[in-house]
Amino acid sequence: MKSFLPLFALMAGLAGPIWADTPAGFIQSYSTEAARTQPGFRADVARGRAFAARDWGVSDKLASCTACHSDTPSNPGRHAVTGKTIQPLSPSVNPERFSDPAKVEKWFKRNCKEVVGRLCSPAEKADFIQFVMGAR
Ligand code: HEC
Repeated sequence: MKSFLPLFALMAGLAGPIWADTPAGFIQSYSTEAARTQPGFRADVARGRAFAARDWGVSDKLASCTACHSDTPSNPGRHAVTGKTIQPLSPSVNPERFSDPAKVEKWFKRNCKEVVGRLCSPAEKADFIQFVMGAR
């Protein structure tokens, strides 16, 4: 079955080899990808927290991920432009999080471009999800 997964990802129209449907699975996929250029890469909560809170200086209103998602992943966020409530990112309080590869990739792409001014690397994505899940 495993050998069909990349095919499934292609059929689903995903860019890249990422296929996962659990938070731990996403961390693993992104970490494997990151390890190609950073041997021994391991996702890190503290790095993820710093990434999420960093002011990238690209957008005034959307300076950081935490500008919308709050700095506590188990808390709801608030969209910095529209004021709309954003459900918590933490899968422990919001089980729908990190369960759909199309959704995860779509929002990483969109939010990273807005906040960071470029796509996020696999290492940054792995660290971010590790932070959202909390320390292990
Ligand atoms: C403009 C406000 C805003 C900012 C800033 C923002 N996000 Fe989001 N994010 C959203 C919204 C809106 C959604 C989709 C609605 C939802 O899922 O609740 C979302 C969803 C996501 C998801 C989907 C998770 C899932 O499985 O449901 C990820 C991952 C994510 N954001 C990561 C990030 C990262 C990383 C950053 C910083 C680089 C960031 N976001 C900055 C508004 C924002």
